[in-house]
Parts: sequence; C-alpha cells; structure tokens
Amino acid sequence: MPLPECLKFAIEEKISKIKLRELVAASQNLSHSYRHDKKKNGSFMSSSQDHLAYLSTRFPATFAANCHVFKGIRELMTGLNIESLLDVGAGPGTGMWAASEIFPRLKRATLIEKDTGLIELGKSLPTPSNLYLQWQEKDLEKGFIFEPHDLVLLSYSLGELSEKVWETLLEKLLKATQKAIVVIEPGTPLGFSRILKVRKILISLNGHLIAPCPHRDVCPLASSDWCHFSERLERSSSHRKIKKGELGYEDEKFSYVVFSKQKLEITGSRLIRRPQKLSKQVRVTLCTKSGIENKVISKGEKEIYHKARKADWGSLLNLNSFQVE
Ligand SMILES: C[S@@+](CC[C@H](N)C(=O)[O-])C[C@H]1O[C@@H](n2cnc3c(N)ncnc32)[C@H](O)[C@@H]1O
Repeated sequence: MPLPECLKFAIEEKISKIKLRELVAASQNLSHSYRHDKKKNGSFMSSSQDHLAYLSTRFPATFAANCHVFKGIRELMTGLNIESLLDVGAGPGTGMWAASEIFPRLKRATLIEKDTGLIELGKSLPTPSNLYLQWQEKDLEKGFIFEPHDLVLLSYSLGELSEKVWETLLEKLLKATQKAIVVIEPGTPLGFSRILKVRKILISLNGHLIAPCPHRDVCPLASSDWCHFSERLERSSSHRKIKKGELGYEDEKFSYVVFSKQKLEITGSRLIRRPQKLSKQVRVTLCTKSGIENKVISKGEKEIYHKARKADWGSLLNLNSFQVE
C-alpha cells in the first residue's frame, strides 16, 4: 500500500532541505543501531538527521506493515467500525496514517511518544482530513494512564521499552482497548520472540487472540523457526539515492499479533510462507488448528484452487475441504 500522495510530497520536501550525504550517514547509523540494538542516551534516534532518516527510509516500511495488519483485522471483524486510535510509541505518526487509510471512519487519534523531535516532525506533516489528533509527550517507562480507544497499537515500539514494564503496560492497554489491540515487531527471530511473549501475556489476561494464529495453543513455530510476514514496497527516488542505487523496492518483514476485546470464532488457516503458484497447482504452508501443514492444491479442486491463487503470504484460507499432504 503506497503512502498517500500528500504525505509522500511532504516527506520529499523535508528531506530536500538536508544534504544527501548527511541523510545517507544518518540512515546507515540508524540501520546499524537497530541491527545491533545499540541505543544512544536511551534512544535509537537522537538528532534531527536521524528523525529525517527514519521518515524517509523506515516510515514507508512500517506504514506498509501496519496497513497489512489493519486490512487483516478489517476482514476478520466484519462490520468493524474504528473511530479512535491510541498509538503507543507513535514515532512521527505512522500508525495514524495507516489506520486512517484502512479505517476511513477514524475520527480521533491519540499519539504517545517520548521524543520531542519526532513529535515536532509529526506535527509538521499534513494531517488526514477530519481527524482530531492529540500528541502526548510521555515516557512510557515512567508510568501511564490510558483513555479507552477502539484500536490500540504498539508498532515497532514495544521492543524499545524495558521488558520489566511490558506486563503492566499490556494489561493497561488491554483495558483501554474497546475493539482490538495490535502489536507489531520486526520480522526477525528477536522480533518474533517478543511477539511470543506478548501473545503469552495477553492470553493470560484473557484477551481473545484473532491473528495471525488460528488457535491459542503453544505456537508450533516457537522452537524451530520464526513466524513473520512480508510487504513489498516501492522505494521513492530519494530513498533509492539514500540506499545508493540499490533495488527499486524492498520487502519489509514483520511479526505481529492481534487480540480482540470480544470473542470471535476464527475459521481458516494462515499462510505462513509465500505460496508457490505453479501452472496447475498452488503449494502452500499453513498454520492450522492442528499445527503446520504443507499442501498442494491442484486445479481440480476448483473453488479452493481459485482462493489459493488469489491468496498471498499472510492470508487466511478456509481449509475445510483440504486434504493435507
Ligand atoms: C521504531 S519507532 C516506531 C515508530 C512508529 N510506531 C512506527 O511504526 O513507525 C519506536 C518509537 O517508540 C518510541 N519510544 C521508545 N521508547 C519509548 C518510551 N519509553 N516512551 C514513549 N515512546 C517510546 C521511540 O521514540 C520511537 O519513536
């Protein structure tokens, strides 16, 4: 899902005011800090160059991951009406932009962020029309009180907080959730291990797990692999320059979990790999209620075959009439 045009334009305008070599250096430092989990004075970003590097290179990717997860929620919770969003560790407002694209009835967003520079940057960007926006400058490690909101989001932020606060934070956030709570982390073994911890905490708090898992039993991938998904996004020309002419696209990998406030019956199995679409068959790897299953769906299995051809990595497929290999 591409960024809205007005936002793309605003980002290009902002980064045109800084020298390319500064942006390249900041972007390399940022990737290095994230990859090696190295904070400077308690944060991964510490200068206005870091903020602009995040805006131009990470924001489009985390926006795409947010849109993927929100679309899945919209499909699962039919008739869902999201009017308010609480985004915790909001950065420059990525989740608010994604939520307003996928849930057009969004009227109100509360964005909590500790970094003053990122808040200022977020405030200087355009705002989706008809949205009442409230920025709150707060350090989540120093206490929190949350007002109720339909959708509660922690996008690529939980991992930046001390694990000591996770349980209390998630408990308070689940209480503040009126419809669904989403946690997204990078699609790496480390990001997935955090998602597994969140899953365990929210299950213990009686949250209703609705995605991506088709069940709340022990995760069948927990010991051998990591569950993650991917969104391909085009890089803007400036993004390509920052990456020194590398590919014109990138694949953002992410792991996530969604809990709903109300109990929901989930039918279907999750495609946990990119399906292989061959000429007369589709090969899929699915997370089902009874574990991981590999399946070859042939053209003869008409209805399911058509569904499988349309499905993508991360889709939910109804398995009822499948024969598993
Ligand atoms: C990787 S960024 C993610 C930003 C945004 N949610 C996104 O998906 O693009 C993590 C954000 O969490 C914020 N953060 C980290 N620790 C925090 C804390 N203790 N209190 C509030 N925000 C925090 C950081 O300042 C940063 O903006």
